[in-house]
Amino acid sequence: MGQTNTNTMSKLRAAITGVGGYVPDYILTNKELETMVETTDEWITTRTGIKERRILKGENQGVSVMGIAAVKDMLAKTKIDPKEIDCVIFATVTADMTFPATANIVATAVGATNAFSFDMGAACSGFIYALSAGAGYIQSGMYKKVVVIGGDKMSAIMDYTDRSTCIIFGDGAGCVLLEPTTEELGVMDTLLKSDGAGETYLHMKAGGSRMPASNATIANRQHFVYQEGSAVFKFAVTNMADVSAQVAERNHLTADNITWLVPHQANKRIIDATASRVGISEDKVMMNIERYGNTTGGTIPLLLWDYEKQLKKGDNLLLAAFGGGFTWGAVYVKWAYNS
Ligand code: UT7
Repeated sequence: MGQTNTNTMSKLRAAITGVGGYVPDYILTNKELETMVETTDEWITTRTGIKERRILKGENQGVSVMGIAAVKDMLAKTKIDPKEIDCVIFATVTADMTFPATANIVATAVGATNAFSFDMGAACSGFIYALSAGAGYIQSGMYKKVVVIGGDKMSAIMDYTDRSTCIIFGDGAGCVLLEPTTEELGVMDTLLKSDGAGETYLHMKAGGSRMPASNATIANRQHFVYQEGSAVFKFAVTNMADVSAQVAERNHLTADNITWLVPHQANKRIIDATASRVGISEDKVMMNIERYGNTTGGTIPLLLWDYEKQLKKGDNLLLAAFGGGFTWGAVYVKWAYNS
């Protein structure tokens, strides 16, 4: 009679079973930025590792455009029926509109007509927060197909007269499909953190309920990202490395058995510091910051998209992020398929 006892049932895990991505065609190079603000390709390259970033041009083009393209890319590869999708979560700080949620727009556009959908705002950590939430739905047995999107149209909230901020950000979106598995694969562990004191150093003042849009907020350039770069840099280096080290340690992950570090792409110097703290050599660090810059919610899924063909079933991935809020965290993922 013991067979029906839940204790004997295998634990459900959330496996990543598909990846999609999209970056816009327009390439904003460091050379072009030299014509917009007082900067040099040399300064940007040595201080951040970024050479170029993508920009979504055109009227009425919101982040949904990129989210839809990313999900369609994933659907074409996995060949799942969008009607089977239970839930769509979109991690973004540049939603098409304050409401409705951009995830609602994306779900309908891709034919996920049976899904419920919502946005999640955790800035640069948005994707790992949403991945953790999506994994929870799967692990509980509540849902069987959850799509997690991360993406931002940072160019929409960028002050292209602020040389210390505008040089790092770009536009892009990526997504993953989560499905249940009873194998020891998928999202194995998560450690998420936040600290509202970070508001001082990284925020967008106007356009919310505290300071609605007015002629004054526009004149004062308060609808753009405000970032005290060097302060954020210090918090990022310490905290992203700390959570990565903690997740590695409690899962017995070492330089020898971590296949890939998958770090948020904000600044190559932050990535290098995190890698060195967990003792990982550069060849095991996913990196595309030189081509896309910091796409906020988009960086981690775009890395998975870029490296998908190199990933093998059973690979140990350590995802890590730090961003506005402050929010930060690390997620241990065991890769579930060979491409
Ligand atoms: O992803 C979400 C979280 N965000 C981050 O993780 C970003 C973290 N911060 C950073 O990546 C870096 O702080 C930045 C790349 C944003 C800035 O680099 P930095 O090395 O921290 O520069 P800084 O702001 O401390 O400025 C150093 C100097 C200043 O000149 P003085 O005062 O020393 O004469 C700046 O005016 O560099 C100057 N500077 C520039 N010079 C040429 C700042 N931006 C530029 C620029 N070109 N684009």
